[in-house]
Amino acid sequence: MRCVIPLNRNWKYTPSFNESYITERDCSGWINIELPHTNHELPLTYFDEKSYQFISTYSRIIALNELDSNKLNIIHFEGVMTAAKVYVNGHFVSEHKGGYTGFDVALNSYMKFDGFDEITVVVDSTERPDIPPFGAQVDYLTYGGIYREVQLRQVDPVYIDNVFAKPTDCLKEKKQLNVDVYLKNTSRSTNVETVKVSLFSGVELVTEELWNGSLSGDTEQMISVAFMELEEIELWELHNPNLYTVLVEVNKDQDSRRIGFREAVFTTEGFFLNGQLLNIRGLNRHQSFPYVGYAMPERVQKQDADILKNELGLNLVRTSHYPQSRHFLDRCDEIGLLVFEEIPGWQHIGDKVWQNLAIEHVREMIKRDWNHPSIVVWGVRVNESADNHEFYKETNAVAKKLDPTRQTTGVRCIEGSELLEDVYGMNDFALDGVNQVKLGQRIALRGQQDVTKLEYKVPYLVTEYNGHMFPTKKTDCEEHQQEHALRHLLVIDAGCADKEVAGTIGWCAFDYNTHKDFGAGDRICHHGVMDMFRLPKFAASAYHSQKSVDDEPVLFPMTLWTRGERAEGMEISPMLVATNCDKVELFIDDQLYGSYLPSRSHFKGLEFPPVVIPHIRGEWGMSWKKGDFVGFSNGREVIRKSFTEAPQLTTFTAIADSETLLAEADSWDATRIVLSAQDQCGNPLVYHNTIVNIEIDGAIELIGPKQIVLPGGTGALWVRSAGKIGTGLVSFKTSEGHQQSIVLSVQ
Ligand code: GAL
Repeated sequence: MRCVIPLNRNWKYTPSFNESYITERDCSGWINIELPHTNHELPLTYFDEKSYQFISTYSRIIALNELDSNKLNIIHFEGVMTAAKVYVNGHFVSEHKGGYTGFDVALNSYMKFDGFDEITVVVDSTERPDIPPFGAQVDYLTYGGIYREVQLRQVDPVYIDNVFAKPTDCLKEKKQLNVDVYLKNTSRSTNVETVKVSLFSGVELVTEELWNGSLSGDTEQMISVAFMELEEIELWELHNPNLYTVLVEVNKDQDSRRIGFREAVFTTEGFFLNGQLLNIRGLNRHQSFPYVGYAMPERVQKQDADILKNELGLNLVRTSHYPQSRHFLDRCDEIGLLVFEEIPGWQHIGDKVWQNLAIEHVREMIKRDWNHPSIVVWGVRVNESADNHEFYKETNAVAKKLDPTRQTTGVRCIEGSELLEDVYGMNDFALDGVNQVKLGQRIALRGQQDVTKLEYKVPYLVTEYNGHMFPTKKTDCEEHQQEHALRHLLVIDAGCADKEVAGTIGWCAFDYNTHKDFGAGDRICHHGVMDMFRLPKFAASAYHSQKSVDDEPVLFPMTLWTRGERAEGMEISPMLVATNCDKVELFIDDQLYGSYLPSRSHFKGLEFPPVVIPHIRGEWGMSWKKGDFVGFSNGREVIRKSFTEAPQLTTFTAIADSETLLAEADSWDATRIVLSAQDQCGNPLVYHNTIVNIEIDGAIELIGPKQIVLPGGTGALWVRSAGKIGTGLVSFKTSEGHQQSIVLSVQ
């Protein structure tokens, strides 16, 4: 039987490298670490990005009970940034270049199986110009270390190396499933084998098929098993993402994959999911977090998908600009969030050796992720690179050969760039940063053919907009934040109205750390609709408000509701209210001030246009009063949002995303805790700069500093399990003496 052992604990680490580390086996002075691990924790801002760009060394003794000398022992690394050389008992075994895809290392040849076998991983986290995305400037940080999980797999000489289950005829009554099983026979002899492939719905067996044949020694072979005429299969849909499991068994080896039956196709008429036209509304996601960079465990990766789907109401995420965590993609499958996944890179294309590595990354990405029903298109161009006919002919050919079921795309910023893919991806920054956007006088998107310069229509997707055109922080003033939100609304509106556009994917979901050459000098690109802690700016409401009102009523007046916040000190209008309600009433001092309908005249494409309140009377010197916004749907009040005329710090809240952590999960666990300093109505005190002191006790550890401020009235931190079962207490005390505590159960 195959045995898979997580190998994330009991590593030793030193932030240095010396040839002697490979052979001497002396780890005194090294620190004990658990994976995922960042080679260097960073401050949130104003650090030197060179500080994590060094070579470090990791060492792991494989204990006797973790090994089986009768089996093939293969260690699988999910992600090591940027290049890894793996040694077993001092012998070099293999090297992998590129930090976004995994790799296997077969251990047996150099093992002693005496309980003291040592794996040494030399990790080069410098920005090596021979490895994508490097070679020129890059607008993001890649961090360093063994930042994803590691497993030890013990398999028989004949084993399943990979499985690709390809559903077809998904829209027919009777569906089909072709399962390609990639087998390896590492023995010298030819083996006659039976391969059993079973399809499960939950624990229920749907059907099974057998394949019989022989496998010659020392070979890799792909065999296919077809299930014809499958009945009563439920589709994978966004609101009902039905998943099935394919179980493959060969002799004593078995492996499984989760799959979904769905049809996803980009056409000149738009994108169709299961035969239904779907306007794509997405954002780009960088996988980085404060302090620890990329090194966050399963729960936190999954939480990002939940935020994108539930808090932002998106139907697609682009994994800019590289393959992302398997946990994130698993969650996208589970909750019904479409994914556009792409190869690592940013504008620069290197020499032939570099290009060959990028082509290898196409292979690694697809072979890792081809079973995810959420992934609907492969990005096989380096983001925003120039044309390179031969290179991109090859990336497309490789993708098509490996996965004939999915279309390809590539993200451009140059008009008239050559189309070798199925879908023309274009970053359209037509709403530039120069002109303030006035409603009714806007060019939010260019026409498809103005961009492609082709004489005919093609499947076309807007893959970025806004971003550096209008960086925004949640501490920015009301007008700036509203303008930011308006720009997002204008583009998604244009993307819905223009039937030649399959949809729009904005830049970007979350702020991210970057090099000094980009961003606000603080090493952050403040381009997200949420900050690095995944806390919303006004612009988040542009997306959130597009959820159906039955899912969740949304009402977000883009105001701090104050007398003197805006430039002229009189007006707090025009005011946008992002909402999915069909009517909004405003009460000032309990008197009905006005009743407003969604602005369909200004937003012709959106299903849920914002309400625009053109004018709210007021004079400098008048007495400021409280305001209440009430949202209606089908004549019924469904949501209300109130603002006080005299905000004061009233409450301090601390809410954990999860109150349970798993001490014995495959790796360490973590949860975010969101803090907020609020007024009488529960609105964050945007200009308060509350200082919060954090104390930790028990079975948890704090990620990041023990004292933080709450920019824009909200802030967050993550706490992690500390390798023991018990309870963890997190206590907060603000500069004003407010106290809160949270008890986490670590199980
Ligand atoms: C794009 C690029 C993104 C990001 C963005 C900022 O050109 O593809 O990675 O830099 O600009 O708006």
